[in-house]
Amino acid sequence: MSIRLGDTAPDFTAPTTHGEISFHEWLGDSWGVLFSHPKDFTPVCTTELGEVARIKAEFDRRGVKVIGLSVDPVDSHETWEADIAETQGTPVNFPMIGDPERRVADLYDMIHPNANDTLTVRSVFVIAPDKTVKLTLTYPASTGRNFDEILRVIDSLQLTARHKVATPANWSPGNDVIIGAGLSDDEAAELFPNGWVAPKPYLRIVPQPTD
Ligand code: BEZ
Repeated sequence: MSIRLGDTAPDFTAPTTHGEISFHEWLGDSWGVLFSHPKDFTPVCTTELGEVARIKAEFDRRGVKVIGLSVDPVDSHETWEADIAETQGTPVNFPMIGDPERRVADLYDMIHPNANDTLTVRSVFVIAPDKTVKLTLTYPASTGRNFDEILRVIDSLQLTARHKVATPANWSPGNDVIIGAGLSDDEAAELFPNGWVAPKPYLRIVPQPTD
């Protein structure tokens, strides 16, 4: 079953390199990123896991727990992690789910049989503290993901969870934002007393709120 934005992220228990987890319990009140890899001991995945390990502090700073998955068992992940530490310069510092029976992969529709009927695609799910899915991404096996973009989307999601704003194309933290389309001008005036710039009535631009 495919997972859509706004759905509750399916719960599961699974073995990981950090011990057995119950997913919702493991997430607790944090944001979460669940991301899949086609297979252990593959080159692009090796670079991706090294990169996430290298920028793990950026996820921590945002209150986001990260967890990886591939359809190999935990003992295979553990052997692979030694290679990742050796070649990428940072040990893997987050759990990796072992999923040889593809239980979690199937639950999250991470296998796309017309692309490959045994390996997972590169899926990403960003999950809010209320366990709703806020972002899904699907990349092909041949393209490593841009984790700076995933951090950027998390920044936007966390900002728009706190304020009635949206973020424009190519926004990055600190840039101007857009007043949410659902707010009338009267409601917007209450929330943005310094006013806004409106090249069109439906395009109302304000500085990014700072809190
Ligand atoms: C990789 O991670 O390099 C990879 C994995 C599966 C298929 C192709 C590439």
